[in-house]
Amino acid sequence: MSINIAVDGPAGAGKSTISRGAAKELGFIYVDTGALYRAVGLNALRLGIDTKDAAKVGAALAGTEVELRFIDGEQRVFLNGEDVSEAIRAPEASMAASNVSAIPSVRSFLFELQRDIAKNNNCIMDGRDIGTVVLPGAEIKIFLTASPEERALRRYRELVAKDVPAEYEQVLEEMKQRDFNDSNRAIAPLKPAPDAVLVDTTGYALDEAIALVIKLIKERLD
Ligand code: DC
Repeated sequence: MSINIAVDGPAGAGKSTISRGAAKELGFIYVDTGALYRAVGLNALRLGIDTKDAAKVGAALAGTEVELRFIDGEQRVFLNGEDVSEAIRAPEASMAASNVSAIPSVRSFLFELQRDIAKNNNCIMDGRDIGTVVLPGAEIKIFLTASPEERALRRYRELVAKDVPAEYEQVLEEMKQRDFNDSNRAIAPLKPAPDAVLVDTTGYALDEAIALVIKLIKERLD
């Protein structure tokens, strides 16, 4: 039996950095499920499909293959055999991912893939609905939050560090828009599972937050 840890929360709460750090410490794999929605969103963008058009996005899934591979412990995401791990990080792929993630056929398309990985591996899986829908039986569930301003500042700094032109106000606006979309959609909205531990990372440096979450996990696994 594999051990599964579910980490959910809004964009910029530190899910990926914290989950990656904790997974490394525990010797688990880290699974970033947002990458799957981003790959489906990128696919729709490339096909010139309106990412809010459920019928068209759904129809395009038939000819689409999304796969996660773990190379030297690092997750890579493949779209129709092409490694799109970098391409999915473009800002337009973020909004496309948020749009396609509200489409039920997209969620069911990606569901088994996530479940299979969790069944076969000790993992920390992050996303929006991992504790509520994908892995309701996860041994530990964590819901990470931080204020929208702090989350936007983190995302803004990441973009600047990668030389991506960005404006803080715009990053904040887009983040609030995505929060709204992700929390208010009819299917699998972003919300804490009833048995999730809430961790607010506002005011924490990310290495402090990683240490906090590792401590919490170790206490619960003992
Ligand atoms: O974590 P992220 O920013 O890479 O996620 C991209 C989008 O995908 C996000 O706006 C919401 C969606 N998503 C989701 O609906 N369910 C998940 N388990 C993961 C991501």
